[in-house]
Amino acid sequence: MENQIPTHVSIIMDGNGRWARERGLERVKGHVEGVKSVRACAEEAVRQGVKYLSLFAFSEENWGRPREEVDALMQLMMSSIRDEVATLMDNGVRFVVLGNRERLSATLRTAIAALEKRTEKNGAMTLIVFLSYSGKWDIFQAARKMAAELARDPSKELTINDFDQYLVTAGYPDPDLIIRTSGEQRISNYLLWQGAYSEFLFVEQLWPDFREESFRRALEEYAKRDRRYGKVK
Ligand code: IPE
Ligand code: IPE
Ligand code: MG
Repeated sequence: MENQIPTHVSIIMDGNGRWARERGLERVKGHVEGVKSVRACAEEAVRQGVKYLSLFAFSEENWGRPREEVDALMQLMMSSIRDEVATLMDNGVRFVVLGNRERLSATLRTAIAALEKRTEKNGAMTLIVFLSYSGKWDIFQAARKMAAELARDPSKELTINDFDQYLVTAGYPDPDLIIRTSGEQRISNYLLWQGAYSEFLFVEQLWPDFREESFRRALEEYAKRDRRYGKVK
């Protein structure tokens, strides 16, 4: 059957705080545990032949969380970059960060750029981490870039399909499947343009509990979906 394995799986990793609270732990412990789910899902995705796995790690709105939590999340991003190099190289995974980089610290930006460079030739899978990202921000920055280009060259002919090239996801396929953990059923300003025809899967499990087996089940669920794109089959 065609399209059994989705080319691009995207995950809104939600529920770390609740996972920690249920155990009487600080929220940050939930984020630490969530990193293990990232590793488990990334390895399973490679095994299953998924070509792009993208993860919503930190939204533009998440900057509004308490300072200590934001700092802890940025620290965790730094340490994960340091600790996961070997795993990425062993699995042939290319690492890419998409989002509003200007808001990240210079140290983190440098570490990200170095890991992107180091893994750029890896071809088994691309792991996209959305950091300081929001869908409206992406559409807005794309519109600004397009407007600037049109100001330079007013005769430039553009169609709706050309808009993709201004988004930060330019060159990457749209997600086939968007999974959200923790039981919330909302998009929270994620891939608003790119998710126009994605299949959605909302699961009750909290992100730190979502491991290989859950990822496999999500792919099984995807395989049962009938994607019609507005047409009659
Ligand atoms: C997801 O878990 C991680 C981030 C948004 C950074 P949360 O931190 O949102 O956990 P809950 O939703 O409060 O349980
Ligand atoms: C969405 O989770 C953002 C990420 C997973 C990075 P949130 O926990 O921030 O979303 P809301 O607040 O429930 O909408
Ligand atoms: Mg949440």
